[in-house]
Amino acid sequence: MKTIAANACRIVLALTFIFSGYVKASDPLGTQYKIHDYLEALGLAAYAPDWLTLCSSIALSAVEFSLGIFMLFAIRRRATSAAMLLFMMAMTAITVWIAIADPVSDCGCFGDAVILTNMQTLAKNIVLLACAATVYAWPLRMYRFISRPAQWIAINYTILFSLASSIVSLYLLPPFDFRPYHIGADLLKGMEIPADAPQPQFTTTFVLEKNGERKEFTLDDYPDSTWTFVDSKTVQTSEGYVPPIHDFSIQLEDGTDATDNILTHKGYTFLLISPHLETADDSNFGDIDRIYEYAKQHDIPFYCLTASTGKAIQHWQDITGAEYPFANTDETTLKTVIRSNPGLLMLRGPVIVGKWSHNALPDISDPDVSPDKLQSLHDNTRPASQKVLLVILWFILPLTMLTLADRTWAWTKWIRRKRVKPQQHIKHLKTKNNMRKKIVAGNWKMNMNLQEGIALAKELNDTLTAEKPNCGVIICTPFIHLASVAQFLNQDVVALGAENCADKEKGAFTGEVSAEMVKSTGAQYVILGHSERREYYNETPEILKEKVLLALKNGLKVIFCIGESKEEREANKQNEVVKAELEGSVFNLTAEEFANIVIAYEPIWAIGTGLTATAEQAEDIHAYIRSVVAEKYGQEVADNTSILYGGSCKASNAPELFAKPDIDGGLIGGASLKAADFKGIIDAWK
Ligand code: 13P
Repeated sequence: MKTIAANACRIVLALTFIFSGYVKASDPLGTQYKIHDYLEALGLAAYAPDWLTLCSSIALSAVEFSLGIFMLFAIRRRATSAAMLLFMMAMTAITVWIAIADPVSDCGCFGDAVILTNMQTLAKNIVLLACAATVYAWPLRMYRFISRPAQWIAINYTILFSLASSIVSLYLLPPFDFRPYHIGADLLKGMEIPADAPQPQFTTTFVLEKNGERKEFTLDDYPDSTWTFVDSKTVQTSEGYVPPIHDFSIQLEDGTDATDNILTHKGYTFLLISPHLETADDSNFGDIDRIYEYAKQHDIPFYCLTASTGKAIQHWQDITGAEYPFANTDETTLKTVIRSNPGLLMLRGPVIVGKWSHNALPDISDPDVSPDKLQSLHDNTRPASQKVLLVILWFILPLTMLTLADRTWAWTKWIRRKRVKPQQHIKHLKTKNNMRKKIVAGNWKMNMNLQEGIALAKELNDTLTAEKPNCGVIICTPFIHLASVAQFLNQDVVALGAENCADKEKGAFTGEVSAEMVKSTGAQYVILGHSERREYYNETPEILKEKVLLALKNGLKVIFCIGESKEEREANKQNEVVKAELEGSVFNLTAEEFANIVIAYEPIWAIGTGLTATAEQAEDIHAYIRSVVAEKYGQEVADNTSILYGGSCKASNAPELFAKPDIDGGLIGGASLKAADFKGIIDAWK
């Protein structure tokens, strides 16, 4: 249930954040205007310059989009889910405020693509907050869709993609236009109010006085003339129908309203749109002037619509040589019409047929090109479904190619390392060999009662204190022995470990023993992934991964067992098996965490059977295991990792096994149950 809940919530969060992040990234100016609205409601707009609100808009979309993608692919699961929870807590607090105080009419969560009321936004955020809390509770239950080594590529590419989307949209125009002024929109139709549309409703209250007493009345209970009128108040109780275009008007410089004239003109009209001429980009004025010349030549009316006043218009004319007429339109309307200052609109009658950023104005190098041809020169002609597909391809294709390139590079590196001459290889490892710890560890399994265990531990402790071993010695005992045995051990000589720990932190798990409990006995190690537990107690790679994380979290070092079965060895699949076991449960760790892992290679066919892998067989696979660790964490980490051999290891075969460069000691079962046998193996290091 936890896995299903975590993954379901992760998908809901991912899709919502990718959508809201991309919609914002594809219209950075729209998001900037919304941020400005919020700051205005807080009385802070004067302190936030335009560049700051624009950068905040781009950063906000990048954060949302990246969190969405990281959630989808389950990248850096713990960090992403913590960041997601923090983000949702902050956003929910803001939406509680807008639901109560109503400072903005639309939250702007999804740009202009989906408009929610403040109450709908609050409800949405409460659901998302619950999802974020669920994912935060069980981050490691999210299935990864991208391998760990490829994550850095996805992280960088996602951030780059989001920033590039914002920049392209700023330079050109948003690829998706959700506003009522999109190409194909009929401005007159957008202003129409249907005959049966709901009208705005008003209520009037009258204040009247009689014999010094004042009372409020409505038209329904208006009293007789003995009452004297004092005051009246009229309030709007419902807004009625508001058409999508309700504030578009064009006032010429002489004060006449030219809206109807322009929108009912039969042919084409050019409208150069600049909400603020003071802040308009004047770098493309030459192209604009050429289009004005073209308009005159083809008898096409041309106006510049702005909210700026005479002085700014005069300044614009001075610096650009503009000769076209100016007209006045509401600033917010102009900002809604086109996300470019200045931007160009081409109308045919009341219908918008072309829309260009000043950075990509239509090419009229041939002044005889017909206006019909010109109107098709905007780059927004693709249907929306094609545009969505293009955006997805722009994200997926480069990401896939980068990942393939990275994996190929890692693979060739691995091949190159394998080609190093064997002699050179061994010499190299031998010099490094001194860096890692030699260990002989005992695994008592389910043997010995408490008294027998204490006696053995004491005997070993005494023997090895008297005659210092040349290696680290560990005994791993059943849980029941740990606390008592810990009393008798000098752990500088013989360290103590458990044979298992739970995959849960604490709580109602009858019979289980947590990593924290193991640690509290004084133990320093725990064996995890032993083939007997994998086989008889169905411990899966996922369960082991949890156990490893909990053990490390509680300060225990892990002896992590891997090894193939007889059938797998016969099918020559041993390398594949051990690699998958490492990848399944410990390769999620950071290099720093991995420093606390001791690997024990234990071929299942050799455990307790009397069959030992030959020293050559063992060395081959140990060298392979080290190369896999090197591929994952680098050569230095690999050189520092102790890899023990386990499986019918005894005093007679230990010296030959331990002489091999990649065998750093043993994990001993049967032969660890008698002090003399165990000491015989420890002495192999002498
Ligand atoms: P034996 O040494 O008894 O073969 O057992 C090896 C083992 O499983 C250690 O964990």
